[in-house]
Amino acid sequence: MSIKPLIILPDPVLRQVSKPIERVDGALRKLADDMLETMYDAPGIGLAAIQVGEPLRMLVIDLAKEDETPAPHVFINPEVLDSADQRSVYEEGCLSIPDYYAEVERPAAVRVKYLDRDGKLQEIEAEGLMATCLQHEIDHLNGVLFIDHISKLKRDMVVKKFKKLARDKPSGSKAPGKLVG
Ligand code: NI
Repeated sequence: MSIKPLIILPDPVLRQVSKPIERVDGALRKLADDMLETMYDAPGIGLAAIQVGEPLRMLVIDLAKEDETPAPHVFINPEVLDSADQRSVYEEGCLSIPDYYAEVERPAAVRVKYLDRDGKLQEIEAEGLMATCLQHEIDHLNGVLFIDHISKLKRDMVVKKFKKLARDKPSGSKAPGKLVG
């Protein structure tokens, strides 16, 4: 397993729509393991493949607390089948938008179908933090970020701040807008 560099706002890679995965094989499982290791290292509770520069419809989630046994979940080609009318609000953050948090309102429960790491079709009825996390990560697969769910004023401020941070990076690091693969 290896830790992969994270793609950070405003990198346009984050706006790509990820492609469906056609085959669940060893290489894909290796990517899932690398994503989990990268997520644990950050640390975070969810990560989509595009955040490590792979435009594939796969995401990983682990909601176990620090003192609990790890509970890694791999979701391949996840698809929301149903969303509850009821809403819930969580303070969200994103490994691609470090140190920024904002309250986001989303459906409180979702039914999602996906393939597991063995390529087996599964369905989950998620609620609470798992429902929010799944929606946040599935958004990533469609090039959507959690800041797209907050006010334009707040979003513009965050994007401006990250554009400035990218510009001010020492030479040798990637320029704003440059793709990394
Ligand atoms: Ni995120």
